[in-house]
Amino acid sequence: MKKTAGWSGVKRNVMLVALIVLFSAVSVYGQAILSGDRSVPVEAKNGMVVTSHTLATEVALDVLKKGGNAVDAAVTAGFALAVTQPRSGNIGGGGFMLVSSEKKKEVVAIDYREKAPAGATRDMFLDADGNADQNLSRFSHISAGVPGTVAGLALALKKYGTISLEEALAPAIKLAEKGFVVTPRFSKGVKSKQKRLFKFEAGKKKFLKADGKFYEPGDIYIQADLAETLKLIAKEGIKGFYEGRTAELIVAEMQKGKGLITLEDLKNYQPKIRKPVFGTYRGYDIYSMSPPSSGGAHIIQILNILEKFPIKNLGHNSAKTIHLMAEAMKRAYADRSKFLGDSDFVKVPLSGIISKKYAASQRAGIDPDFASISRNIAPGNPTDFESNETTHFSIVDKFGNAVANTYTINFSYGSGIVVEGAGFLLNNEMDDFSAKPGVPNGYGLIGGEANKVEPQKRMLSSMSPTIVMKGGKNFLIAGSPGGSRIITTTLQVIMNVIDHNLNVQAAVNAPRIHHQWLPDEIRIEEGISVDTIRLLKGMGHTVNEKSSMGAIQSIMVAEDGIMYGGADPRRSTSAAMGF
Ligand code: GLY
Repeated sequence: MKKTAGWSGVKRNVMLVALIVLFSAVSVYGQAILSGDRSVPVEAKNGMVVTSHTLATEVALDVLKKGGNAVDAAVTAGFALAVTQPRSGNIGGGGFMLVSSEKKKEVVAIDYREKAPAGATRDMFLDADGNADQNLSRFSHISAGVPGTVAGLALALKKYGTISLEEALAPAIKLAEKGFVVTPRFSKGVKSKQKRLFKFEAGKKKFLKADGKFYEPGDIYIQADLAETLKLIAKEGIKGFYEGRTAELIVAEMQKGKGLITLEDLKNYQPKIRKPVFGTYRGYDIYSMSPPSSGGAHIIQILNILEKFPIKNLGHNSAKTIHLMAEAMKRAYADRSKFLGDSDFVKVPLSGIISKKYAASQRAGIDPDFASISRNIAPGNPTDFESNETTHFSIVDKFGNAVANTYTINFSYGSGIVVEGAGFLLNNEMDDFSAKPGVPNGYGLIGGEANKVEPQKRMLSSMSPTIVMKGGKNFLIAGSPGGSRIITTTLQVIMNVIDHNLNVQAAVNAPRIHHQWLPDEIRIEEGISVDTIRLLKGMGHTVNEKSSMGAIQSIMVAEDGIMYGGADPRRSTSAAMGF
């Protein structure tokens, strides 16, 4: 497929957009579940929003239509997702936002990752025998880090937006107060995680009807406690969350389960504006998330390793291309295990990891025909070259701004613990720390000293909101959920567009592969041909087909300014809409 849709595609999409607008105009929230044809991108000239939930896309697009910018729309979407998609949308978690302004010639990264409470200690997740206790790090009150989302979204709006926090929260408050129509995905999600969600009364109150039954598709879902919590933020700003009633409710919740978050921790939470990591790939400029995310560093490292291979000629998802990608991925994830952590606490050899010279040295170790064995790939020496369910959304406005935002409460529904009286779920992001060197986290990722638990440290992330630019113009906005697979998922959409000339929807849809060093396997989605798998096995790779990976919500902007939105069909509620 080509990067731009042909005329028949244009006509089809104009009709689809017209239909979407018509449906939105006559509907109340929740009744317009129409998100475009998932085989061609949605096209628009004035603004594009792609999120994992139709309702979040709708309210954010509305902000753009009223003259708001991409940051206004992003903050509106972030709060709306906290209501419509509680499995990952959140105010009890954290994330990263990249903001690009063509006019200011600037890309900034807002780090609102959760932090370890001041009372956290290195061995807090070890049992009496010194073994990592996964129940503690994933499903207990001490699995929660200090939430960053409210402070991060408020900071983004204050520095780069044009509307008030009250305006950005209004659609979310309406969705919580008046309710929205339950989708099959929502209903199935709650049922599948009932053990986690119904451990405490507050979870039952949030996710079950008054008669104790499940919400079924078509029911209206109202969240009165959450509406009150959001209203307090609208009225009092971040103090309405980090101090006063909500803070007290969080601390009271902590006390029910030996949790560590204190009023002081909440009051002290600060998001940070950071410089994104920067690299180049075949003439494109790549901006992505810097530590405490590993995402940007390793996307650029893998692209650097692959840049000298003729990927386009080797073919999309051919055995040769997958082999080279897997070999580059192995080396990057080996480095991740040793060198990556919160750069406010440890020295991350970032400039080495993303240097083209280091990539050349790693490329030299790749046999073009045979798989290397992961255990033989020790983390490299980048210092010599120095000079996890989550949700992503992408937004572009007509003023030359683009936003890539990924935020999370870690697993689906995070810790499963709802703050009683406040109506939101707490993250279990503490599991992203290395509980014990060499012991894998929830995504099978191994970490070391650089990512050990320390008070007030941010746990290492893989979230990779990314903005690709060409000649100073926003070109591709991408990012994904998927834990350890976030990095490779985002990487493949970038390569599918740049190397293989796929349009953004085809790039998002294409079957993906993943290698994370350990376990030593190429994980594939369905859709990779049996011939390819046979060839890969012949090269010495272990290949395992598993469930789908990630949910990229992406936008490509063509040279003529037309915006193409690609919503990921791996999520039934995802929606791209433009105007
Ligand atoms: N919790 C998944 C990540 O941040 O990578």
